[in-house]
Amino acid sequence: MPTRRRYLMCPPRYFTVEYSINPWMDPGVPVDTELALAQWTALKDAYQDLGHTVETIEPQPGLPDMVFAANSGTVVDGRVLGARFRAPQRAAEADHYRRWFLDQGYRDVVMPTAINEAEGDFAWTGELLLAGTGFRTDPEAHAEAQEVLGVPVVSLRLVDPRYYHLDTALFVLTESGGGAPASVAYYPEAFSPGSQRVLRRLFPDAVIATADDAACLGLNGVSDGRNVILPTEAKELADQLAHRGYRPIPIDVSELRKSGGGPKCCTMELRE
Ligand code: ARG
Repeated sequence: MPTRRRYLMCPPRYFTVEYSINPWMDPGVPVDTELALAQWTALKDAYQDLGHTVETIEPQPGLPDMVFAANSGTVVDGRVLGARFRAPQRAAEADHYRRWFLDQGYRDVVMPTAINEAEGDFAWTGELLLAGTGFRTDPEAHAEAQEVLGVPVVSLRLVDPRYYHLDTALFVLTESGGGAPASVAYYPEAFSPGSQRVLRRLFPDAVIATADDAACLGLNGVSDGRNVILPTEAKELADQLAHRGYRPIPIDVSELRKSGGGPKCCTMELRE
């Protein structure tokens, strides 16, 4: 069953690719900011059509990646753990989001001391916080998240630079609850052998994505427990999900992918 969600998004008004901090980004390839804005708006509309609430934050000139709201906060039970970016080009984003939370009246806002790219590398299953490391978020940030948010954290190691954030390789389809375990979709090859074993143990019934699904950033999906927003090209994944009773909703995110992003990257979940 779907559950109502609250999301924070940032319109890509200043979106461009002017530096390269992941293998998807090529500053030599032109970016159509208007098209990115149209794709982002379609994503926002899709959430609202599903009955979800979307809050927005003002984008800032000179911060072209600020559209990727997922990277700037992890919110569980109304507690906020902010971000500390690895790349200096993105560092200033963290404080804009911190101020947004304070302006909205969030009282429990902690800024991390370790490198922490928030929901880029953290996925909440309803009882565990899955935490990626290897390219961006430091392992010390996992321990910090456990301490600040007061939830158990499971560390997972990413090994393929194309899948530099956890949310490019795994997403939660249904949170655990009412005695039922959480379900997830992931691309095993993005993880170290040990982390693959952890994932198999935690999620024996997971949806296993193909290399093609991963290569269009198909794992950068957003699920409300029934409706699953994912990039248009992730066809096999959409079929698998439909087969399991989910409702896949394809969204074109071609412009945002030029920066290594997809639907989830543009979406921070505000869990009260
Ligand atoms: N260009 C951005 C970066 O490399 C993309 C971030 C995408 N966000 C995400 N949650 N995976 O940092």
